[in-house]
Parts: sequence; structure tokens; C-alpha cells
Amino acid sequence: MNIPTQIIIFGITGDLSRQKILPSLFSLYIEDRLPEKLSIVGFSRRNFSKYDIEDFVRNVLPEHERREDFVKLFSYIAGDFSYLQSYMRLKDHVERTDLSFSQCSNKLYYLSVAPLYYEMILTSLKESGLSLPCGGDLGWARVLVEKPFGYDIHSSKRLNALVDTLFQKEQIYRVDHYMAKTSLQEIIDIRRDEVIGARWNAQYIKQIRIDLQETATVEKRGEFYDSLGVVYDVGQNHILQMIALALRPIMEKENASDIQHAREVVFESLSVDREFAHRAQYEGYRTHANVPPSSETETYIDVTLYSALEGFVGVPIRVVSGKGCPKSFTAVTVVWKDGTESVFETPSSESQSAYKKVLIDCMDGEQAVFTSGREVELGWHIAEEMKRVIQQKPLELYQMYSML
Ligand code: BG6
Repeated sequence: MNIPTQIIIFGITGDLSRQKILPSLFSLYIEDRLPEKLSIVGFSRRNFSKYDIEDFVRNVLPEHERREDFVKLFSYIAGDFSYLQSYMRLKDHVERTDLSFSQCSNKLYYLSVAPLYYEMILTSLKESGLSLPCGGDLGWARVLVEKPFGYDIHSSKRLNALVDTLFQKEQIYRVDHYMAKTSLQEIIDIRRDEVIGARWNAQYIKQIRIDLQETATVEKRGEFYDSLGVVYDVGQNHILQMIALALRPIMEKENASDIQHAREVVFESLSVDREFAHRAQYEGYRTHANVPPSSETETYIDVTLYSALEGFVGVPIRVVSGKGCPKSFTAVTVVWKDGTESVFETPSSESQSAYKKVLIDCMDGEQAVFTSGREVELGWHIAEEMKRVIQQKPLELYQMYSML
């Protein structure tokens, strides 16, 4: 763990970086869980100086006696993602940092940009030589790619094929931070209990309910969100991961690829109920910046899925998710036929610790909390089916923070 490391963040000034990545890195820094020799580089279009990036990071973070030391770790390279020259400047910068470390360092490239840039960035990382590890296991080069991985099934397939030609499998980490939420992972521990495990099937379970309800609205993310809606923003990924925790086969001993495969098996087994489905949009959504005034994008869905997996046939999996909901509530609930419920809730405060785990697991080369290429493609397949089903339904309107 104590190998010099450089973390290069693409889109460092974006929302996700401000809200999750930078605070998580800072928290890890305070806990002394990051390598001692560390450099964090912002790579974005804005014309920032070192002074500007330091100021930017300082303003994002809470007051702390170690904040200034952390801020000093940052540097910045301004560059257009579409020019190879920008990457060559970045390469020159990271190589100079390696010289100052007197050692080949680990390189972690964090892609926190819109998915339409992924192909371009991944190709340029390869062409510039930035993704070439300088020292095997010591001195690796890894790429963390944020969700959504692609914007539909075709683009995700194209991206996966590209990734396969450009990188080694162990260099790519596709993020879905819901897999790093420990309160949700508890479902697997509970299912391992002999008594509960024996009852975890259609004979005893009446319904599985997945809630990802947020009071938050789309705020400043209007343009990004409007191209996705609930289904592609959280349905294609977080919600499917919650379903996988409830249904996936469990083995006594599992490695990362066993776990990824078990999730793939669940995704393959899912289908969407065509009858019971609702979609809605909160009043005022169309007035957000960069949302078209006639947008038909759903901000709320209530759909039911079924699995063909042995043991779960006939159990409705009801998914309720939206923005501008009366309360924030994210949980997997098992409704038992005896009338009782088991609720596995994840508090929103867990988001930051999940991002910390994403960063640490990537640095440790631990793939279990990351999605496989196949999971992503299957995810898009189901999400597209969900979208087709709900688009047959009228778009209802709801008042923000009111019950539908
Ligand atoms: C993100 C979505 O992936 O997850 C957001 O893009 C959503 O729209 C967020 O708000 C929810 O994550 P968490 O950890 O806050 O529940």
C-alpha cells in the first residue's frame, strides 16, 4: 500500500468530484489510509493554475488542521480530452512527479466525466502511453470508470470491446458505489445464516421491494439527468445491484469473479412486468436549467420485475425510485408470507464510506465491488426493457415531496 501513487482525476471540477471523490480522498488522508508519497492531479478543460486548483479543493473540503497539507498534494493540467497533445502534457507531468519520487509510482486514472468522452479518453490513455504500467504489480496503472458505463446497450458493448483491446482486464474498474455500501452487503451475511437461508425463497417470500427514493431533485444536473431519467440514472445500476444482493447465488467461498458471475446470473434471469408500471415527473422539473420545456423524462418509477431463477419464480420484485420524494429511503425489503418484513436500509451518509471503499479496493486490486463488462451490458438490456414498458404508460405529474 505504501507505494508512491498518483491519482489523476478527469473532470475534477464536476459535481461528483466535489461531492464524493474529493471528500472521500480527504477522509482517507486524515485516516492515514493513503500512500505517504501521493500526488493528485486534476485534468480538465478549465484553465486552472496550481493556485486555482488548490483554492478549489480547499473550498470543497471542511475545515481541518490537515487540510492545507492535503491541498498541497494537488496539481493541475488543463487540456482538451480530444487532443493527444493534452495527454502528452499530462504524461510529462506524471513522469516528472515519478522523478521527484525517485521511483515508478502507481497511477490511478479516475474518469468522472460524461460517458460520451469515455472512448476518446480510454483510447488516448493508451496511445499516449499513460496507461502503460511502469513496474508490474508495483507501479500499476489502473482506470476507474464512473457509471453510467455507456449510454445504451450498443455503446456499452462498443466500450467493452474497446477496453478489451486497450487494457488488461485487471486495469479496469467499473464503478457502482452501491456495491460498496456495507449495510446492503449485510444481506449476504444474513442469507448465509442456515435458518434464514433455508427460508430465502418463493415458498416463504411474498415480495421483494427495492426502494431508492430521494428528496433531492435533479438540481444543477438537468442536462445530464434529462438524457437518462430514473431508469438509466439508477435503474441500470444501483437498483439492479440491490436486486442481485437479494437473489444472487451464494457460494461458501467466493472470489471476485465468482461474485461477478453470480450477479450476471441474476441479471440474465430478470424480466419486466408489462402490466403494472407507473412513471411520473415532479412538477417544476421542466424549469430546471438545460431541461427542455416539453421534457417527457420520468423522475419517478414504480415497476415490477420477475426472476426466472430457481427458488424465486413468481416472487414480484417491486422497484420504487424517484427524485423529489417525500423522504429519502433506500432499502431492500423482504416481505414474508407470514406478514413480517426484513428491511435492509442504507442511510445516505453511507455514500461517502462507499466511495472510500471504491478508492481503496481499486488501489488494492480487489475487483468484487466493481461491475464486470457483462454485468454492464445485461444491466442496459434490462434497463432498456424497463424503459420500453414504462414508455407505454402515461406520464403522471406529482408535487415535489408529496405522496404519489
Ligand atoms: C448516483 C445518481 O449514481 O447515485 C444520483 O446519479 C443519485 O442521481 C445517487 O442521487 C444516489 O447515491 P447515494 O449513495 O446518495 O444513495
